[in-house]
Amino acid sequence: MKRNKLKVLSLFAGAGGMDLGFKNAGYEIIWANDFDPDSVKTYKRNLGNHIVLGDIEKIKTNHMPNNPDVVIGGFPCQGFSIANLSRRVDDSRNKLYKQMLRVIRAKKPKYFVAENVSGILTLGKGAVIEKIIKDFKSIGYKVDYKLLNAADYGVPQSRKRVIILGNRLDLENPYPKQTHQISTKQKNLFDMFEKQISTKEAINFLAKVPLTNKTIYVNNRVIHNHVGDTNVHDEFWGRKYPVNQFDICDYLKKWRKKAGISTKKVDEHFGYAHTAGHWFRKDNNSGSIPNPDDWRGLKKLLGFDNKYDKQVTTMVKKKIQFEQSLRITNWKTPSDTLTATSPEIHVNLKRRLSVRECAILQTFPDDFIFEGATYRSMHKQIGNAVPVLLAEKIAKEIKKMIQSKSLRRAA
Ligand SMILES: C[S@@+](CC[C@H](N)C(=O)[O-])C[C@H]1O[C@@H](n2cnc3c(N)ncnc32)[C@H](O)[C@@H]1O
Repeated sequence: MKRNKLKVLSLFAGAGGMDLGFKNAGYEIIWANDFDPDSVKTYKRNLGNHIVLGDIEKIKTNHMPNNPDVVIGGFPCQGFSIANLSRRVDDSRNKLYKQMLRVIRAKKPKYFVAENVSGILTLGKGAVIEKIIKDFKSIGYKVDYKLLNAADYGVPQSRKRVIILGNRLDLENPYPKQTHQISTKQKNLFDMFEKQISTKEAINFLAKVPLTNKTIYVNNRVIHNHVGDTNVHDEFWGRKYPVNQFDICDYLKKWRKKAGISTKKVDEHFGYAHTAGHWFRKDNNSGSIPNPDDWRGLKKLLGFDNKYDKQVTTMVKKKIQFEQSLRITNWKTPSDTLTATSPEIHVNLKRRLSVRECAILQTFPDDFIFEGATYRSMHKQIGNAVPVLLAEKIAKEIKKMIQSKSLRRAA
């Protein structure tokens, strides 16, 4: 018997990670929405024109198709994220789940799936998640939530996300069974897990491939969007010896006065605007020490002695601790969680992870092409997504439940 495909209505669809998972599981996405133009471009290119660009708060439910079997949505999480230290219970973005509630109330899908960051569980000491669950229950849904780690389902990324499931058929809310774990050691007699997939296994094949905007072929794979930020430095030129800004400022002031030259004249001499002021300002915030070239120029102009020459002008290459700490550390395990900002620096290269490498870590297929004027935009779309494979596994479980219910009804 040929069945019609189950229908999905997708809110906050982004680039379409969750949608693609549902499509791969055999669903048809009948309508989707997002207000980010680049995400919508990506979505259209890869999933179809059924996505509508616009603010969900301004779209009436009678402009959305009726009778979806499932409503899905990763309602925006910035307000909830543990990466955002200023998260607040009353952040206006927190209210966007109400849009999902509105659509579910109007369209009455059999199931809904809402995805969010783990921080939602502790926000307001648990009050926020409780309120969300209560609200969904109040419109007739049986609701459960669970924190899933994508790495436990074969995604090469440790990404913990809260998956809220609800159904109005008094069925089970089915979560997929864990398939992977850190080691291959058997947990018990019944559970055989595969080993989690490491970052290296997933993306090492691209390490030696130069970044390019063109479509290329690597290991029989067609690779797009192997582009990314190369403005990454392990080292910088810094002063070899410690220099005290206050001492240098006093010293320069003394010699400037001796020479009878105003800061304005110093600026004119160098062709700078307001730069010299910083050299004569005794202040750790806005005062500065001249670079070696300017120091030599000042010396000619003001005629000072050699007292600080060595300290100010001897430069050496130094390691940047901050950037080093942003290098991939999880090379031999699933990667750290990809975020909507700049990705990590490659483990042994002078560049950040490429758009394609991040897409692979989110289990987007190779033929999924990201649109967007900047790497930043593409990285954001990827970092925001639900890993395609995890979404597919969730979708398959729900499909089994809905089909068993309709089979029971048909019997
Ligand atoms: C966490 S992302 C969802 C990612 C998506 N589930 C996926 O798997 O690719 C949240 C999305 O909500 C969108 N968004 C935020 N506020 C919105 C609004 N008021 N109307 C429509 N979309 C909105 C953002 O542009 C973003 O793409």
